[in-house]
Amino acid sequence: MADQSGVLADVRRGMIPAHIYNDRELFELEKQRVFGRAWVFVAHESEIPQPGDYVVRRVLQDSFIVARDEKGVVRAHFNMCLHRGMQVCRAEMGNASHFRCPYHGWSYRNDGRLVGLPFHQEAYGGEAGFRRKGRRLLPAPNLASYNGLVFLSMDPDAEPLEEFLGDFRFYLDYYTRQSPTGIELRGPQRWRVKANWKIGAENFAGDMYHTPQTHISVVEIGLFREPKAQKRKDGCTYWAGNGGGTTYKLPPGDLDERFRYVGYPQQMVDRMKQMFSADQLRVVGDDGFMISAASVYPNLSFVHNWPRVADSDDVLPFISLRQWQPISEDETEVLSWFAVDAEAPEEFKALSYKAYLMCFGSTGMFEQDDVENWVSLTSTAAGSMARRLLLNSRMGLLEDGAEVVPALTCDQFHGPGVAHAGYGEYNQRELLNRWADDLERPAKPAPTLEVGVGEQARVGSPA
Ligand code: FES
Ligand SMILES: [Fe+2]
Repeated sequence: MADQSGVLADVRRGMIPAHIYNDRELFELEKQRVFGRAWVFVAHESEIPQPGDYVVRRVLQDSFIVARDEKGVVRAHFNMCLHRGMQVCRAEMGNASHFRCPYHGWSYRNDGRLVGLPFHQEAYGGEAGFRRKGRRLLPAPNLASYNGLVFLSMDPDAEPLEEFLGDFRFYLDYYTRQSPTGIELRGPQRWRVKANWKIGAENFAGDMYHTPQTHISVVEIGLFREPKAQKRKDGCTYWAGNGGGTTYKLPPGDLDERFRYVGYPQQMVDRMKQMFSADQLRVVGDDGFMISAASVYPNLSFVHNWPRVADSDDVLPFISLRQWQPISEDETEVLSWFAVDAEAPEEFKALSYKAYLMCFGSTGMFEQDDVENWVSLTSTAAGSMARRLLLNSRMGLLEDGAEVVPALTCDQFHGPGVAHAGYGEYNQRELLNRWADDLERPAKPAPTLEVGVGEQARVGSPA
């Protein structure tokens, strides 16, 4: 494999070799060194609320059954039969106490344990010849959850999820902890785009600059009060832990008025006041910033926005989770979920869903605008000229590396991490710097596990 040190050095100074957005050799490295160890989002616990509920999700090519077992424990098992390797569960989601392999009929409980072998006695000599006890589908190397978001890591020695998320947890709460129950999801909608996976993650992490240009038609039809260039410029970006995002500057008002400005009914505002910390409330109420899009390294993003959903001037907020699941160096499967506070009034949920569908998801106006750029960029990045071009990702920095505007002080912005008002590519650089750090670190050889042996990956304790 070619030496990538020059590429990584350019990335670290904010000059991005254009071919990184369509490079087979780099993608092979990303598979091992990024997706071979990062915490990758696979499901939200609300997708599998009942014992036996499951979803099938992938990390690259590895398919996992993420299931809640009969005791209420969430587990993830590699979706490959211990016998001759058939995919055990072919459905995308459902409820099952057992999974029976379609090839020869071995069956597994929803906690992964092997329980049934056709002709066990005749073909294997019964338990004496082949013990079922102790054998199970291969567990995910590492599994953990935060606010119901279930993440999987292929590295058994990955740092704990909470450390990985670090101070980004402060911001994650705005999307996922508006009430004690937390969010419920609808979806995912899934579709493929001929674009490199990093582009979406970078865009959602910090690209406030594209909104007034790429999404000008949305501005012109008046769907939003906010994407106007002036409004976006007044917001700030922040980076904390392994994630970062964008905010909008809110008009003057107190905490309640500012939450209501984006369309939250008072009863939801009252709950958020109970749930959020003093600093989380200060970011909105005192500093006047409302969180918007964000990304967690490597490939999970969030949106929070508030379009007009009727002919009046009233707006209503929606939340979306989205994942940029790499298929290859030039193709990405997008998974897009609608998320809403489970305790929100039913009418709010219905309108919020409508707001989401107008803007994001496979038919969303923002989605269509964005993807046109990303597909075109990816295709051009495959050519020979792209290997000679360094893209400028230094917005917010002067030639000498000093910042165009200083970071906000802790009195101006009460959230953790570093925040800057106005346009900048601080977060895109943060994201790609982590990518460069990972690409530089050789991957450990994966241990071969004896069939059915190994630690059980699980989330939570028995109900
Ligand atoms: S491959 Fe699954 S039972 Fe044979
Ligand atoms: Fe966009």
